[in-house]
This record gives sequence, structure tokens and C-alpha cells, in this order.
Amino acid sequence: MKRVLITGITGQDGAYLSEFLLNKGYEVHGSAHDLSADKLWRLDELGVREKIALRDVDMTDEASVNALVKSVQPDEIYNLASRSFVAASWNAPLPTADVNALGTLRLLQAMRELCPTAKFYQASTSEMYGSGNQQHRQDEDTPLHPKSPYAVSKLFAHWMTINYRESFGLFACCGILFNHESPLRGLDFVTRKISNGVARIHLGLSDHISLGNMDAKRDWGFAGDYVEVMWRMLQQPVAEEFVISTGKTHSVRDFLAFAFREVGIEDWTKYVKSDPKYLRPVELQELSGKNDKAKRVLGWEPRVSFEELVTMMVRRDIERLTPQT
Ligand code: GDD
Repeated sequence: MKRVLITGITGQDGAYLSEFLLNKGYEVHGSAHDLSADKLWRLDELGVREKIALRDVDMTDEASVNALVKSVQPDEIYNLASRSFVAASWNAPLPTADVNALGTLRLLQAMRELCPTAKFYQASTSEMYGSGNQQHRQDEDTPLHPKSPYAVSKLFAHWMTINYRESFGLFACCGILFNHESPLRGLDFVTRKISNGVARIHLGLSDHISLGNMDAKRDWGFAGDYVEVMWRMLQQPVAEEFVISTGKTHSVRDFLAFAFREVGIEDWTKYVKSDPKYLRPVELQELSGKNDKAKRVLGWEPRVSFEELVTMMVRRDIERLTPQT
């Protein structure tokens, strides 16, 4: 039985990846910096909490990262641990860099010393492309120009992963994932903020949603589709980078329109307020990924459409908020 280590296992991707790898027959070990009961809801919703070995590990602490790798001796490592909320990174650049950038380096170094034949997946991000308003879609060759402390920290981790591959021959690669969402998304992110807000309005629990830049456009896919590709990348003969995206872009307004339509509201504008506190110092106006390489080499295609994703999220939030009889 293959043993896998997932850092950041309590997050959206960690939960879906755990479920996926358990179904493949892996022994799943996972770490997070906070294993208190309220952080385990995603693992509980998917019914996988009891099937995985959980460890409390702080990615900023070299000794505990080393102890983790030494005790698990994984065949595959998925580094999903991250401070992942872009907007928060301007107010917390140092912890963001410590976890996202140096945390990745600590893990790579532990792998190099303790299990150099393992395979390593790094969760890179389309945020690394930065500069908005590109005329074309981004692929593996598009120049990187990060625009937030979060994106800069991820760029360091991205290049360190490649550097450890090139310097020490480790099987280490990065998935450049565009936004991926699900009912397990945290409430801070715009998609879940909207699905939860629409569900609350529908059930009479709230009368509006406050948002920032509604003209921003993102390439939104379903997280459950995206974790599969992480695994596929580690089954390749050669470690290399892949862009993972749907290739289709929608605005925050599009998301709002679909979400409100799901509960029968066509004119949603009266339920949405603009609040400057949600604007960012620098905004990425549009991200759109070209996933041709993933399709060609990995045989991967996203299965869930944008419309299905929005519907799934709104319905699940309505279910969650509806009292059970
Ligand atoms: N969070 C949030 N809250 N975003 C808002 C709001 C709001 O009230 N109003 C408008 N937006 C806009 C943001 O300005 C941004 O342009 C867009 O909605 C998406 O914001 P998020 O959902 O917070 O995601 P993100 O694109 O910043 O980052 C996500 O995707 C990256 C991959 O491209 C995160 O998952 C990152 O960790 C990930 O790397």
C-alpha cells in the first residue's frame, strides 16, 4: 500500500484529495496547523476523517516538518499547506511568506534528506501570473509577475520546487492551478461568499451581500476535478509543470447572476452592495488558463461546468442552512 503525506489536509483541496487517494487505496497521512474540531468539517462532510492519520504540524517549524516526514516516510507528498487568502496577505506578509515560501522549502529539504525517492507536488497558482488585462490566456510559458505578497510567496515556492528538481534530481513538480471552488470552499472566498449569501437571502436570513470588485474575471473550475490532476502529475515518468484550468472565464457579476437565478431571482442588483473594504491594493482583473498541455499529456479534462459548479454550491448552502426535520 502506498503512503501519502498531504500538508494542509483540512483545507478544501486536502479534503477532496484525501477522498480521492483513499479510493485509490493509499494510506493517507495529513498535517495541518490547527486540528481543532471546527477545522475538520470538510473531512467530516466527505466522511474521511476516521480513515486518515492526522498530525498537528506548523510549517514554520523546521523540527516538526522534519519529524513529520521522518515518521510518515511517504511515497508521495502533496504540499497544499498555505495561507491562501490573497486579500489577507497584504496585512500579513511575513506569516504568509513563512508558511507558503519557507514552509515549502522546509518540506523540500526534509524530503531531500529523509525520503529523496518520494514524489513531490507543489500547489502553485495562477496568481503568480499577476499583471491583469492580458490579451491572451496564460500557459506554462507565460511570464510570471506576482502582484500580492501571497503570489510572491508562491512564486518562491514554485521556483524552489523546480530548483530542487534541477539541483538534486528530486521528482518534484508544480501544478499551476487556476481558481477552483466547491461547497467546501471557505466563506472568505468570493464564490462561497456569494453561494452562502444567496442561500441566506433565499431563506430570509439576510437581505444583502457586500462585495468588492465585481468586474474581476476568473477561470473557475471544480476543486474535485482538480485534485485528480495533482495525482496524475505524480504518476508521470518525468516531473514537469502543468497549467490546470477550464479555459473559460466569468466575472464576479456572472457568478452572482447564476447564483441568484438558482433561487429564482433575476434582478439581483438590489441584494448586492458595493463595499470598498473588499477592494485590494492591486487587483488582477482577469485570469484565464490555457490547459492544452494537461489535456495532451495527462489526458485530463475538467468535468464540472461553471453553471453546474454554481448550482452545486448554492444548493449545498441552502441544505446546510435549512433546519433538519
Ligand atoms: N474574497 C473576495 N471577497 N473576493 C472578492 C470580493 C469579496 O467580497 N468582491 C470581489 N472579489 C473579487 C476579488 O477581488 C478577486 O478579483 C475575485 O473576486 C476572486 O477573489 P477570491 O475568491 O478571494 O480568489 P482569488 O482569485 O483572490 O484567489 C484564489 O484563487 C487563486 C488561484 O488563482 C485563492 O484560492 C488563491 O489561494 C488561489 O491561489
